[in-house]
Amino acid sequence: MTIPRKGRFAMLSAAVAGVVVAASVAVTGSAEAATTLGASAAQTGRYFGAATSAFKLSDTPYMTILNREFTSLVPENDMKWDATEPQQGRFTYTNGDRLVSHAQSRGMTVRGHALLWHAQQPAWAQSLSGAALRSAAINHVTQVATHFRGKIHSWDVVNEAFADGGSGGRRDSNLQRTGNDWIEAAFRAARAADPGARLCYNDYNTDGINAKSTGIYNMVRDFKARGVPIDCVGLQSHLGTTLDSTYQQNIQRFADLGVDVQITELDVQQGGNQAGIFAAVTRACLAVARCTGITVWGVRDSDSWRTGQNPLLFDANGNKKAAYTAVLDALNAGGPTTPSSPPPSSPPPSPAPGGCTAALTLNSWNGGYTATVRVTAGTSAVSGWSVGVAVPAGGAVTNTWNATNTGASGQVTFRNVGYNGQIAAGGSTEFGFQGTGTGPAATPACTAA
Ligand code: XIL
Repeated sequence: MTIPRKGRFAMLSAAVAGVVVAASVAVTGSAEAATTLGASAAQTGRYFGAATSAFKLSDTPYMTILNREFTSLVPENDMKWDATEPQQGRFTYTNGDRLVSHAQSRGMTVRGHALLWHAQQPAWAQSLSGAALRSAAINHVTQVATHFRGKIHSWDVVNEAFADGGSGGRRDSNLQRTGNDWIEAAFRAARAADPGARLCYNDYNTDGINAKSTGIYNMVRDFKARGVPIDCVGLQSHLGTTLDSTYQQNIQRFADLGVDVQITELDVQQGGNQAGIFAAVTRACLAVARCTGITVWGVRDSDSWRTGQNPLLFDANGNKKAAYTAVLDALNAGGPTTPSSPPPSSPPPSPAPGGCTAALTLNSWNGGYTATVRVTAGTSAVSGWSVGVAVPAGGAVTNTWNATNTGASGQVTFRNVGYNGQIAAGGSTEFGFQGTGTGPAATPACTAA
């Protein structure tokens, strides 16, 4: 379905709410289900995010939900071209920076949205064309990606460049009129500016196998064949009251090209089977190893751009809707790891007399990973344990479950939480963490208390 765009929200400046110290997410053991979207998704190696805006940072009831539930955020408007380069060559990053710094303080990852798009261009860009527009656009990509370098998990480098309807071709726009190679030029510039960010092509009406998604599929296949840097495809998934029966198949065919897929702007019109559609989208993502995360386009219905459609997981009062429970249940049923997890990076431990051993399994992608650590007691029971992990330089731990961590980079120590300190002789327990950069390679050291 096509969603009419409403006028963009006025961007209000707001004082950043008091800095909150990042807390590790401790969830209950495998016998009990995780109780937040983020923790539950993390157990499958995925993130669960929400679109937000700097002006929301001072909305306490809103922030309570954002901080509790989500492990990723994306600026709904604050990193768009009109917001970041209102006059040519004059860049304003204040609101984007606020959101990044909030995310970092909470251990959330950030999706960057969007470097180039036909909509929400500043007036000066709208009036350019030809070579002048091309060079302004590439400069925009370079400047913005450089400013946020190292802080963005995934960038929507190009947004909505394909036409609706049956053509499977490009949308007409001032950018398209600079030449069909504008998209690959943007991806190359983004890679050069921030080599650590995953680079995504993002679009809507791609919620199944159709002419538009096939046009995008052919472009991605061509990019992969020619070495144009692209790492992911974003399926916005602004949904109506039905879900295409080929939704999962479509995710799978992109994954099979060797790119990740992310559900980037999920919202579902209320009035049909809203909870069922949210759950089906979640299950479809979980079923494909390279579908690495889901982002909903807002938190409460009252925050949504789809005024009156109540398309989100929380009602205007911040209460969890049936759709929330459906998504959480689907995530919790999703299993602990993706089927493509690489084999353990260290050999299985041999029993340690009196002490404990730890074995770490990684599920890595370009720029991040989740680690599962199995702690095994030796010939006697332990009543508490700590595990030392060497986190490679340049990366950091962003999220932990079933343990608490001291430090996030360099040498990081994980300690048991209340319910998993006791391990019987020869028995074991698991904890996990998520990190940026390259995953730890060495076998972690385990110390029994
Ligand atoms: C929307 C925002 O939610 C609104 O606040 C703004 O007025 C218009 O843009 N596809 C996209 C998003 O990629 O950037 C759009 O966001 C929704 C559709």
